[in-house]
This record gives sequence, structure tokens and C-alpha cells, in this order.
Amino acid sequence: MTKLTIDELRKKREEAKKSIYLRDGEFRGRIVVHMGTCGIAAGAREIVSTFLSELEKGGVKDIMVTTSGCAGLCSREPMATVELVNTPPVKYGDLTPDKTARIFKEHVLGGNIVTEYAIGIGSEKGG
Ligand code: FES
Repeated sequence: MTKLTIDELRKKREEAKKSIYLRDGEFRGRIVVHMGTCGIAAGAREIVSTFLSELEKGGVKDIMVTTSGCAGLCSREPMATVELVNTPPVKYGDLTPDKTARIFKEHVLGGNIVTEYAIGIGSEKGG
């Protein structure tokens, strides 16, 4: 049996994740807000509520908002990762409600990464 490398496993995981979204036909992406201790202290709850209210305002039903633990970068909290089907995940840092609303409109709805707030584009660990 051929052994898979870590990168191959990650690729398979990403593919599986995407096919689940596609199969369900329900979600075209998800937003993960990092809620480690420092994330919460830096205002991650406000970031979650901003995303949720933008979803509601826009009547958007095919994007899910979830939370995860610490992303390992205290100094850039609050952070969120936007993962849209068939595009690499983008991690945003130093968020404020205003930046969050802009990311929602331009990236989540418009498909354009807000590069000035992005701190990482591509493979996501943990998420
Ligand atoms: S508690 Fe700050 S990055 Fe984990």
C-alpha cells in the first residue's frame, strides 16, 4: 500500500470538505471565527455578531458561521478564516466590526479577497 504524505492527506481532506458542501448543495462556504482566550479578550464575540448580522441583513443562507479555538497568533486577534468552495481559505487578522463588514461584502459576497486585511492565504491548519 502506498503511504500518503501529510500534504496529500491535507489535500484529500480539503477535497472531501468541498464535496460535502457541494453534495449538500446547502453551503457554499463557511466563516470560522477563532475564539481562543485571547481572541475572546480581543473582541471575537463582536466579530461573530457582525458576521451574523450581515448574513441576516443580506438574507444569505448558504454561508455558515462557526467558531474554533486558538489560531496561535495572539497578536493578530481577533481573527477569522473565510473558506469558500473551490477557493483557498483566507485568514484575516486585527479585525474590527467595520473591517468584518467589509470582508463580508467584498470577499464572502463578492468573491474578492480583501488583501489589506489578509494575513494568510492558502492551506488552513486546525481551522
Ligand atoms: S491564546 Fe492567543 S493565540 Fe492562543
